[in-house]
Amino acid sequence: MRSLKKYCILLSELWLCVLLLLTGCGGTKKAEDKKSIRIGVSLYRGDDTFLNNIRGELEQCAKDFEQTKGVKVVLDIQDAKGNQNTQNDQIERFIALGCDVLCINPVDRTAASVIIDKAMAAQTPVIFFNRQPVEEDMDRWDRIYYVGAVARESAVLQGSIVVDCYRESPERLDLNDDGVVSYVLLEGESSHQDSLIRTEWSVQTLKDGGVPIEKLTGGIANWERSQASALMEQWLEKYPGRIELVICNNDDMALGAIDAMERAGAEGISVVGIDGTTPGLAAVENGKLMGTVSIDKAQYAGAILAIAAGEASGWESEPELELEEGKYYQCPWQIVVKN
Ligand code: BGC
Repeated sequence: MRSLKKYCILLSELWLCVLLLLTGCGGTKKAEDKKSIRIGVSLYRGDDTFLNNIRGELEQCAKDFEQTKGVKVVLDIQDAKGNQNTQNDQIERFIALGCDVLCINPVDRTAASVIIDKAMAAQTPVIFFNRQPVEEDMDRWDRIYYVGAVARESAVLQGSIVVDCYRESPERLDLNDDGVVSYVLLEGESSHQDSLIRTEWSVQTLKDGGVPIEKLTGGIANWERSQASALMEQWLEKYPGRIELVICNNDDMALGAIDAMERAGAEGISVVGIDGTTPGLAAVENGKLMGTVSIDKAQYAGAILAIAAGEASGWESEPELELEEGKYYQCPWQIVVKN
């Protein structure tokens, strides 16, 4: 019985290979002379500041691509509004419209298998970005990609902003001169790969760098400015005059903490973020944010578009990016502090 089942599976796999060769749908299909590329993009939330920055760059990259390559790029960008079912429907619509590639920022990164099932059935390649599916899902097909940025690297750089500041002028951080820097920590969504790793490595970097630290409290603000602001307001009341540093998993939460500090008239507290969003960079510039860690958004969006164009044209011309394991592109981070 078992061997019969095995035989059937083998036969169906063989048949699939023949079908792919015949229809030219495999990863090595013959390049078509495409005059236009249709790309379906779904964002987990259209109101996320970081993703809005990426979206803007993606639109710009598409325009540049059209001009330089003479190929029309139709970008269909949809907002999943934090709902995985809505996103699944959007994906079905993209496929029905005949999109060449899907660029998906999954609502629930652990539920990527449903998206992959749909994409594989339609032979439409998928580039996930920012919210990384688990390895098992990434390995299901050679036309699945991921564009992101390494969480640990961002956190180590964030921590090193604080370490450098402490070494240069400890009094800027240890405001009450008790020999300890008392901090609070604002975390992103618990299900996001970046939250846990950023939290762990920011704190570890402070310890490794010899900054004497004490955690007063911390909480999850789901990447959101308003949630972070509400938490910080409570903490400022609970620990009056004691908070010296606010470590934030992203810039939006850092800005929320600053909002609360301004409302409470709390001065001198240092705040660090990650992302280098437009408002985040402005806050570094005007001295409200001690520093952030930024990626080049144009490079990030450029990587998404290069893979999309490569897939849509049957990899006629190799993109200039190096993909780890043939499917991962991780954008490098850099520190941004005011000079
Ligand atoms: C960014 C956050 C963003 C989140 C969305 C993170 O990598 O740092 O700003 O809200 O991704 O998935």
